[in-house]
Amino acid sequence: MTIKKKILKALAGEVLDTPPIWMMRQAGRYLPEYRETRAQAGDFLSLCYNSDLAAEVTLQPIRRYGFDAAILFADILLLPQALGADLWFVTGEGPRLSTINSTDELNLLKPVDEIHDTLRPVYETVRILSKELPEETTLIGFAGAPWTVATYMIAGRGTPDQKPAHDLKDNNILVFENLIEILTKATIKYLSAQIDAGAEVVKIFDSWAGSLKGDDFYKYAHEPTKKIVMELKAKYPTVPIIVFPRQAGDCYKGFLKSTGADCLAIDDSISSAWAAKYLQKDGCIQGNLNSSHMVSGGQNMIDEIETIVSDLSQGPHIFNLGHGITPEANPDNVALMIETIRNFKRS
Ligand code: CP3
Repeated sequence: MTIKKKILKALAGEVLDTPPIWMMRQAGRYLPEYRETRAQAGDFLSLCYNSDLAAEVTLQPIRRYGFDAAILFADILLLPQALGADLWFVTGEGPRLSTINSTDELNLLKPVDEIHDTLRPVYETVRILSKELPEETTLIGFAGAPWTVATYMIAGRGTPDQKPAHDLKDNNILVFENLIEILTKATIKYLSAQIDAGAEVVKIFDSWAGSLKGDDFYKYAHEPTKKIVMELKAKYPTVPIIVFPRQAGDCYKGFLKSTGADCLAIDDSISSAWAAKYLQKDGCIQGNLNSSHMVSGGQNMIDEIETIVSDLSQGPHIFNLGHGITPEANPDNVALMIETIRNFKRS
């Protein structure tokens, strides 16, 4: 069978005239139609677990902009909730969870096989989307990487430096490593179920990988991701996997090859020229426009987009931001970004 979808072509290593495009958090608060559907659902978590409305917000940016991929609308913190953690969101502040810092607290978690009881509506969202998406649009499923999810479970909230997780690692390595192990197994089951329901690509978000240094990066960012990739590849050899060890810096080098993934998503702390030189030889690169351009727009945004597209034009590339689009972004800048990429003529 020939691959028709542009994202799947890029993930298979093809160099295309125009890079396919999608955006992290493309369904989000910068869109008035998202805010309306979210209000209808009541709150963010109710939206995640309402399959019809979650599918609706996933489709909104596809209808408005014609992105090449849709990313399932859900959150990386649904998995801890499915494992038995309490989870709620404080408006304007972010997530709150019950914390895990001891063997007793770890033992309160449910067996990993039971996650599906909670996550079934997410799989239903995937099934609806695989029926409703335009045929040229690729459906991406996702999960958080074990380290990133653990940082929230240990601290009970988002933290600027992930200190509580580092403290647990330093003071009670047994509990810390058991938690990483549980999350690794649960993530494999969660992503497998998304693929069974119709996800065509999966992405592993390690948003806080950059706070792990040296051997710790290898043990807690690289190894769990590699294990997830290997298990998924054994079961689903044709499903491409995108990995995102955000702010890994020099540790981005070799990450794609040694984990066995198909695409390396990069943040904007490295330049596209550096990525082209050191990373793209190993496979597809996804990224990496600074999200603040979606607020400011203008000629600066256009220049930066053209630099990225041109720098990464010699190998497989999927255009994306370096991190999620923010609520302050101007929807017109997203349209201008897409127009700029699709009209860009390589010199
Ligand atoms: O990208 C997408 O459009 C798909 C859906 C998606 C969401 N979160 C929806 C969301 C994805 C892939 C995520 C991943 C996620 N969630 C990550 C990894 C990527 C990253 O951003 O680093 C992390 C760390 C989380 C945890 C999380 N979820 C936080 C810290 C917050 C609060 C911060 C914020 O932006 O408000 C969320 C909430 C969240 N997840 C929103 C959305 C659209 C905003 C919720 C709302 O509507 O109020």
